[in-house]
Amino acid sequence: MPKVVSLFSGCGGSDAGVIKAGFDVIMANDILPYARDTYLANHPQTDFVLEDIRKIEVFPSAELLVGCYPCQGFSQGGVRDAGRRINFLYLEFARALNAIKPKVFIVENVSGMVRKNFEHLLIDQKAVFTEAGYVVKAQVLNAADFGVAQERRRIFIVGIRADLDTEYEFPKPTHGDLLLQPRVTIEQALSGMELWPTGEYYDREFHWYYMSRDRRRDWHEQSKTIVANPRHMPLHPVSPKLVKVEHNVWRFSEDLPARRFSYRESALLQGFPKDFRFPDTDAASLDMRYTVAGNAVPPPLFEAVARSIPDSLWD
Ligand SMILES: C[S@@+](CC[C@H](N)C(=O)[O-])C[C@H]1O[C@@H](n2cnc3c(N)ncnc32)[C@H](O)[C@@H]1O
Repeated sequence: MPKVVSLFSGCGGSDAGVIKAGFDVIMANDILPYARDTYLANHPQTDFVLEDIRKIEVFPSAELLVGCYPCQGFSQGGVRDAGRRINFLYLEFARALNAIKPKVFIVENVSGMVRKNFEHLLIDQKAVFTEAGYVVKAQVLNAADFGVAQERRRIFIVGIRADLDTEYEFPKPTHGDLLLQPRVTIEQALSGMELWPTGEYYDREFHWYYMSRDRRRDWHEQSKTIVANPRHMPLHPVSPKLVKVEHNVWRFSEDLPARRFSYRESALLQGFPKDFRFPDTDAASLDMRYTVAGNAVPPPLFEAVARSIPDSLWD
């Protein structure tokens, strides 16, 4: 099994995907204690280093390096500041890339990076990775096209070491109207789950900002993007429909109970398996569970990207 070093690993969404694709993750890293706890509850065999990446000086050798550095600066939901310090964590990824020199690397990040005002950040990243000796390709993929019951567009940057003279092709959608398999629905992803799982969902009021757009999708559709902040989590379809009152103002169509997706449901809508564990450790809280699930890369999407690396590289 080709060896993988994973950075900014979170609770292990991307890593669950590479493991399923047949790789061996020998080291993972994150700064968040509950990400470590959740990761190890699901992948106890990995050496998880709980540390600020800037303090890690030595990396083991590996054939694949994966990393999804934080994206707050580009996120359409977050603060839109192209110059925020957090946007420079890609240089830490590049430092590891230069130290390890794996055959391949995979990066995932929010698709907002392709927008005009953030384009320079994508250009910088590609330039830094090219300079490290890689042939770099980037493409936006939608998790819903790969069997995940969620609309989630993310940019993937894949590089193959230039001396290997091998081309990477991004995976083609496997689920959709004109494809062999239909898209997975919310109903399918949440089958067997309780309708009102007390204590597992954020039940504070729906503030004006929440009600400024339609947050609900029906059972037979795909979820809106699952986010890390529970305040902004989409509505569960058990809730009444939302109707538009005016620009940026919506209201419930009926005076019936409504709720956001629970953290467990958000993990299922991210494509995690039903037996995915959220351990009850000291660092656990409702918000933390939502954070690690919402920050994750959908495992089936990362698996598809990892499987598309030509097998000839691992001979
Ligand atoms: C987008 S999430 C990664 C999600 C992960 N790939 C997954 O699929 O579950 C980015 C992660 O970077 C971590 N992070 C932020 N700053 C960091 C730092 N300085 N050193 C290490 N990890 C950091 C965050 O705690 C967060 O879990």
